[in-house]
Amino acid sequence: MALIDLLTKKQIKVLHSYLNDDWKYLILNGAVRAGKTVIDNYLFLLELKRIQNLAKIEKEPHPQYILAGYSSNSIYTNIISSLENQFGIVMKTDRHGHYHLFGVDIVPAYTGSVRGIGAIRGMTSYGAYVNEASLSTREVFKEIMERCSKGSARIICDTNPDIPTHWLKKDYIDNHDPKARIKSFSFTIDDNTFLDPEYVEALKAATPRGMFYDRSILGQWVTGEGIVYQDFNKDTMVVPDDEIPDGLDYYCGVDWGFEHPNPIILLGDDKDGNTYILKDFTKQHKFINYWIKIAQNLQEEFGRNLIFYADSARPDNVTEFQSHGINCINANKNVLPGIEYVAMKMRSGKFKIAQSCADGIMDEIYQYAWDEATGMPLKENETRHNDRLDAIRYAIYSKNKKGGFVPWN
Ligand SMILES: Nc1ncnc2c1ncn2[C@@H]1O[C@H](COP(=O)(O)OP(=O)(O)OP(=O)(O)O)[C@@H](O)[C@H]1O
Ligand SMILES: [Mg+2]
Repeated sequence: MALIDLLTKKQIKVLHSYLNDDWKYLILNGAVRAGKTVIDNYLFLLELKRIQNLAKIEKEPHPQYILAGYSSNSIYTNIISSLENQFGIVMKTDRHGHYHLFGVDIVPAYTGSVRGIGAIRGMTSYGAYVNEASLSTREVFKEIMERCSKGSARIICDTNPDIPTHWLKKDYIDNHDPKARIKSFSFTIDDNTFLDPEYVEALKAATPRGMFYDRSILGQWVTGEGIVYQDFNKDTMVVPDDEIPDGLDYYCGVDWGFEHPNPIILLGDDKDGNTYILKDFTKQHKFINYWIKIAQNLQEEFGRNLIFYADSARPDNVTEFQSHGINCINANKNVLPGIEYVAMKMRSGKFKIAQSCADGIMDEIYQYAWDEATGMPLKENETRHNDRLDAIRYAIYSKNKKGGFVPWN
């Protein structure tokens, strides 16, 4: 079997570079589903083999290697279980939580918070594999680099793009000083020739235009510009109330506020994945008893199991709802994935607002703009609110997150 049957052209290029170039950092960056982790998992095995030999020569009985990822979960899904699927290699943790392969002690490090590096403090590593490197805090990444102080230690990374001023881009990917020995490869989704073309086409069609498309599909390090929900179109997305079907799967989003407006939004999904924004109960300066009453009225109409996905920043309010028999749970507040999910619904024409509650929501949509410096939405101020949009995002994303990114849903 030829290599081209096993790897994409881009992956072969990376493999050539791995084998032939003089590098200390090998950074694969770019689009989602582009084939970065698959080739990096293979290079990880080659690295372990190399270290096994090196350790023999150096008479090092206990060579160590850092396996870094955002969380223990993401290391498991992206690497450990993929290795099993790709190569049939089953790795189990020992009582210290380390993995072992080819005589190398593999120490996991979690890059999402400074606490995640306890395990690697003070160690000397033969190398590191950092999955989803842009999600790492800079301190943790720096610590990993410092642990790889041996002359022969090398670091392989993969990452999706972030803002152009991200430290990984500025300090590493854009560093072309030959002394730094950094090799980087940029992937687009079209580099992955193993994906079903229909899947790619559907994903491209459903990915919101602007920052999300440029990052996820083209693999570019760009920031957001202009309004966040570029694909919103009032002519097609605001619908007369009497055209909204009955018998939907109903749920609510809640963003607590007192000085800020407090929205409770009622939504409903149909079987084709259309989401309807049905009612907007936003009010300012109301105490919790007022909101309990609103929620209880909604329960009477839609059943006691009606879920309220609420902002977790006010656990007292969440508890108060629960103690009144309201099915209130903490929302998933992950900002960018949440926005992307809602924007994807808009892009696919599956987001509708009932005419009777459209004004306040549209007002927020048209003012909801990117902060180019951070690549996040602009913060609220006296005139610009996004409380309703937050409540809508909490509800839609929390309800659907388990299903992941399914463009045709
Ligand atoms: N060489 C290959 N042979 C067969 N399938 C492949 C190959 N490379 C990639 N794939 C397929 O493409 C999918 C996506 O690849 P991979 O997970 O490496 O992408 P990625 O660039 O890491 O994406 P993300 O940025 O979303 O993590 C894999 O799950 C696998 O199904
Ligand atoms: Mg990956």
